[in-house]
Amino acid sequence: MSHIIVIVGAQWGDEGKGKIVDLLAERFSIVVRYQGGHNAGHSVQIGDRSFVLHLLPSGITHKDKTCVLGNGMVIDPKAFFEESDRLAEQGVAVTPERVMVSARAHLILPYHRLLDHTSEERLGNERVGTTLRGIGPAYEDKAGRRGIRAADALNAEVLRARIERNLEDVNRIVAAYGGQTLSVDEVFDQTYPLVERLAPFITDTTHFLNKAAREGRTILIEGAQAALLDVDHGTYPFVTSSNTTAGGASTGTGLAPHRITGVLGIVRTYTTRVGEGPFPTEMLAGEAELGSLIRERGREYGASTGRPRRCGWFDAFATRYAADINGFTSVALTKLDVLDALDEIKVCTGYRLDGKTIESFPAVSQDLRRIEPIYATLPGWRTSTEGITELNDLPARAREYVEFISKEIGVAVGLISTGPERGQTIMAGDPTFNSWLGEGLSAAP
Ligand code: IMP
Repeated sequence: MSHIIVIVGAQWGDEGKGKIVDLLAERFSIVVRYQGGHNAGHSVQIGDRSFVLHLLPSGITHKDKTCVLGNGMVIDPKAFFEESDRLAEQGVAVTPERVMVSARAHLILPYHRLLDHTSEERLGNERVGTTLRGIGPAYEDKAGRRGIRAADALNAEVLRARIERNLEDVNRIVAAYGGQTLSVDEVFDQTYPLVERLAPFITDTTHFLNKAAREGRTILIEGAQAALLDVDHGTYPFVTSSNTTAGGASTGTGLAPHRITGVLGIVRTYTTRVGEGPFPTEMLAGEAELGSLIRERGREYGASTGRPRRCGWFDAFATRYAADINGFTSVALTKLDVLDALDEIKVCTGYRLDGKTIESFPAVSQDLRRIEPIYATLPGWRTSTEGITELNDLPARAREYVEFISKEIGVAVGLISTGPERGQTIMAGDPTFNSWLGEGLSAAP
């Protein structure tokens, strides 16, 4: 069967998608990104080489895979070449023969970065804590029908005219807030040479992907950010500006929903969040030390911005919601080994608001700030699980923790990650997940 699988982070991002996509990419022919831009930070560790990917799909490290940057993405040409030049130094070739950029993807221009800064400054205490990469303003232009798509930019006259039109408004806003305005010439001169360099990569990826699907090729669709940062379903307004959930994979690639054969949720055994926004299970005050322990053990610092991530307990209530809105058919559980040092592990199994247990995930972020998590406490295993590759070799309490999480979120666990390397992986025996891997179930070396 030719699988078309979507991989989505189930929490607020940084669940360890990079490693899982890299691992699965071995079994797929094409790897596609469908939303976001270089706000993402996916870490891939291969032996002693480590790669941090922001814009390119994590399949890029596999020489024989085709990588696609889908129409739902916002692409900063400067970031594209910074990343591909860095990869070239590490021996990974980013060439038009294997990397395609959708003609319909929107471009991030220098003024989008400027607007991102201005917008965050204007919000003050209410700021989102964005990555300041211009992602939100580029999506605003897309929805406002002012955006510049990759294919439009190939025509120098069209590009200049659109920049001219857009800059009029941008400069008014920036000037009103005391910022440095930009000239049409400087934006054009910074952008056009990069677009010319990007030209051989730009193509109709929708046509390519549909043809590939008809031919029965396997496709891995890689999400960035995560479910609770989705612009519709996430903790609005503390979200990113795209549809990170599985539905976005269809609009962001042009592959119809029925073509998608499975959705893998990436679930970390605890929770983190970068930037602002409500976080019910955050380890605060009395638990700050535990939070620091997890941050250090899990190396929880932003791959894009270096910001320390806020750490908290596993939130089964929020992850159940993520399972619903994405339709997870299997989950990969990551960073189990980070919890090795804990005496006790708490799991949030429900939410209480104003003294009442609630059934559905709150739509209002102010309500989320007032949530009182209902916790179950499980015993820790206090022994190293790092690098374990067989389910039976896990300590009984670690297995119980995995089973507890799986039961709480109502989805079978297909894979457990016990370290950053490809080989530090347990195949957990879920038939659905195993069917995606085809022949040979062991993790790629
Ligand atoms: P933006 O995507 O830069 O607009 O940022 C919006 C929110 O999404 C902020 O809270 C960011 O910290 C968060 N965010 C964006 N990309 C990532 C990511 O790759 N991992 C985790 N959080 C992210």
